[in-house]
Amino acid sequence: MTQTPPVKMRGAFLPGSSKTELREVTVPTPGHGEVLLRMKASTICGSDIRCIYREHLGKGPEGYQGVIAGHEPCGQIVQAGPGCRRFKEGDRVVVYHISGCGVCNDCRRGYMISCTSPVYRRAYGWQRDGGMADYLLAEEKDLIALPDELTYLDGAQVACGFGTAYEGLEKIGVCGNDAVLITGLGPVGLAVAMLSRAMGAQKIIGIDVLDVRMKLAVDLGLCDAVLSAGADNVQQVRDLTNGYGVERAVDCSANSAARATAIRATRPWGKIVFLGEGGSVSFNPSEDLLHGQKTLYGSWVSTTWRMEELVERLVRWNIHPEKLVTHRFGLDEVDKAYALMASGNCGKVAVCFDEELK
Ligand SMILES: NC(=O)c1ccc[n+]([C@@H]2O[C@H](COP(=O)([O-])OP(=O)(O)OC[C@H]3O[C@@H](n4cnc5c(N)ncnc54)[C@H](O)[C@@H]3O)[C@@H](O)[C@H]2O)c1
Ligand SMILES: [Zn+2]
Ligand SMILES: [Zn+2]
Repeated sequence: MTQTPPVKMRGAFLPGSSKTELREVTVPTPGHGEVLLRMKASTICGSDIRCIYREHLGKGPEGYQGVIAGHEPCGQIVQAGPGCRRFKEGDRVVVYHISGCGVCNDCRRGYMISCTSPVYRRAYGWQRDGGMADYLLAEEKDLIALPDELTYLDGAQVACGFGTAYEGLEKIGVCGNDAVLITGLGPVGLAVAMLSRAMGAQKIIGIDVLDVRMKLAVDLGLCDAVLSAGADNVQQVRDLTNGYGVERAVDCSANSAARATAIRATRPWGKIVFLGEGGSVSFNPSEDLLHGQKTLYGSWVSTTWRMEELVERLVRWNIHPEKLVTHRFGLDEVDKAYALMASGNCGKVAVCFDEELK
């Protein structure tokens, strides 16, 4: 059921000192082509911690402009502004978290993430208000319909993490023939594992430094083997794959040593995709890549059409991103939510509203 929005609401801001600030702000009114969402689930991404929460490190597209935080929003439309063409009050929607100009080459491909307009490209939770509030103003063109079979918590993770994981796997192509190595078992790495499994991968190997995350990957049945990060990882992965190495590797750690492991532990003709952001990597192009005929991809979030495809496939595969959520908080406890995600002693951390706050 839809509801009339109040005049004021709470919104969480990140001042950049490992703190959160809950402020009272005015509930926006949707203009032409815009909708107002009642927030239902808003999950925290590793990028929020790396670029905003601890310190405002991000530049350009990762620059935080003092807006309401949260770039994984999912909710229900309570008001649709004039000129909306598809979505209406009552619809359950995921917000593709970057609003682009809509008319540059990247936007026309559906990759609003890499929109080239310096004026119109604004990401929710970075340069325009995001999901850590009672209500969110969104543009209709940024919305993905959430199928009835999926929960709002499933949908929130599609907005960045699962969308990113799915895009990376579609670029390298994963199927039942492949052993998959995942370096970094944070929410993105766990999403890669869940989707790889659904795509048919029979042997999934994960590497992390945190016991909590390695245990979660095994307990949820997402990894068949987990390794503690270390100098022997390449040999250990080969030992687990008849001496060859994996067909596919995905870095979700952004750690330089782990990235090199992902490249080196991939067998000849294999494919690697980097999803982890920031940092650097050092490897020997001839020995580690060229002579093994390997392909290295970079991948940044996803497209609107692939997110539509992803939610459809999540239903077909009967898998739920919500399974990765280990902790739910109300907006009044948003400080605890960010502090926990920053500690790493968790799976996915969510701020929830209404029926999602069980
Ligand atoms: N490419 C994109 O479009 C995109 C989108 C979203 C997030 N990201 C990035 O993806 C990464 C993962 O996101 P997340 O939300 O899971 O964040 P996260 O920080 O929770 O996950 C990173 C994981 O890597 C692990 N790690 C650290 N050092 C390691 C090492 N040496 N070996 C193996 N693992 C190691 C950490 O313990 C942690 O579990 C982050 O860098 C994030 O900024 C990229
Ligand atoms: Zn993100
Ligand atoms: Zn654009």
